[in-house]
Amino acid sequence: MKREENFVLRGNICYSVKSTELRCVRRGDLLVLDGKIGAIFPEGELPKRFSALPLTDYGEDILIPGMTDLHIHAPQYSFRGTGMDLELLDWLSTNTFPEEAKYRDLSYAERAYSDFVSDLRESVTTRALVFATIHVPATLLLMEKLDESGLITMVGKVNMDRNSPDFLRETTEESRRSTEEWLSESEGRFQRTFPILTPRFTPSCTDELMRELGTLKARRGLPVQSHLSENLSELAWVKELCPWAGCYGETYRRPGLLYGEGKAVMAHCVYSSEEELSLLAESGSYIAHCPQSNTNLSSGIAPIRRYLDRSLRVGLGTDVAGGANLSMLRALTDAIAVSKLRWRIMDETLRPLCFEEAFYLATKGGGSFFGNVGSFEEGYEADILVLSGRRESVREQGIRERLEQLVYLGGEGTRLRAKFVAGREIALGAV
Ligand code: GUN
Ligand code: FE
Repeated sequence: MKREENFVLRGNICYSVKSTELRCVRRGDLLVLDGKIGAIFPEGELPKRFSALPLTDYGEDILIPGMTDLHIHAPQYSFRGTGMDLELLDWLSTNTFPEEAKYRDLSYAERAYSDFVSDLRESVTTRALVFATIHVPATLLLMEKLDESGLITMVGKVNMDRNSPDFLRETTEESRRSTEEWLSESEGRFQRTFPILTPRFTPSCTDELMRELGTLKARRGLPVQSHLSENLSELAWVKELCPWAGCYGETYRRPGLLYGEGKAVMAHCVYSSEEELSLLAESGSYIAHCPQSNTNLSSGIAPIRRYLDRSLRVGLGTDVAGGANLSMLRALTDAIAVSKLRWRIMDETLRPLCFEEAFYLATKGGGSFFGNVGSFEEGYEADILVLSGRRESVREQGIRERLEQLVYLGGEGTRLRAKFVAGREIALGAV
């Protein structure tokens, strides 16, 4: 047992047990043993046998589980918050593809990925599923940097062999070969960074490439990430490209990308049909809800209440640069906000998400993709954030209220005081 992964943190503790249940403990002791949550003891009740462990007292600050960003594009970080007045397909061809093409140049990738990784490290994100680009050397570089950051991530070399500009397209054979090369080069090289198959989306991958990736998935038991039912023009295009498919999701299922050992994460699912939802449910696939991106690109509002009612697996994503902000605190409050608009304007049968539910999605909902992650129940990986206010509130506050305020204020009034991933502390403000 490494000594640094055995310790006690004292403070106000909040974590989700299930989507409707947020547990709050005033001034409790959070015991971490071997990088995992051992127990939570009420104030003054830490058993003697643990009294020799290093204890940090965070006073009135709030300890919550780390957050999982289920969907983010590292190469798009450089242009986040620009060119936001387009819809998806135009946004891809105008902003995204020209920028992603630059990652052929490793010195550009070096600078851009350094910025991305150092900001992600300083954020409330402890785990993430990350898209890179089609380029193998730059993807490996990104993996190296993320591995050094101490965060736990899955990273995908992107596959694209059709409907993409010449400067950002592979042939089917190149795409298969470069994916194999990337997988063998990353094997055994990283401790905290893992590969995830990443067909960009059906419009940019031929049926043949999808089948190749399905074979690779079955052979290596790899997880998969992609986009699904994000935008109405995209949906119509997929119908044209794959007339054989009963729904968009079928274009991933038939080539074997949804089932098997590694799970799939599908970003958006704004317009998923009943048939598609059944595919996602039966395969145990995850939905990455990306509310800010869906707003910025005028994509729509995903009916997350319906997905929760159907017990689908759901987490949150920032989808930078469709989303402009890296912060999962913002993703959490955006998820609540868009659900309220959807309820009021589109469908009053689907209640808005409440704070507890959105907090669950940002922590335990998405975290479960990585196993026992995103809660403080015994045996969970010790991914811990310590949040503090910029100043003490003039108001007398309960813990639940204080947490809600810290989450809503985000960068404006909230400071990330400490961050731990699987029991290892991440030094903040080091650069
Ligand atoms: N669909 C295909 N590629 C992308 C992308 O980069 N971002 C988003 N939001 N949707 C996509
Ligand atoms: Fe995306």
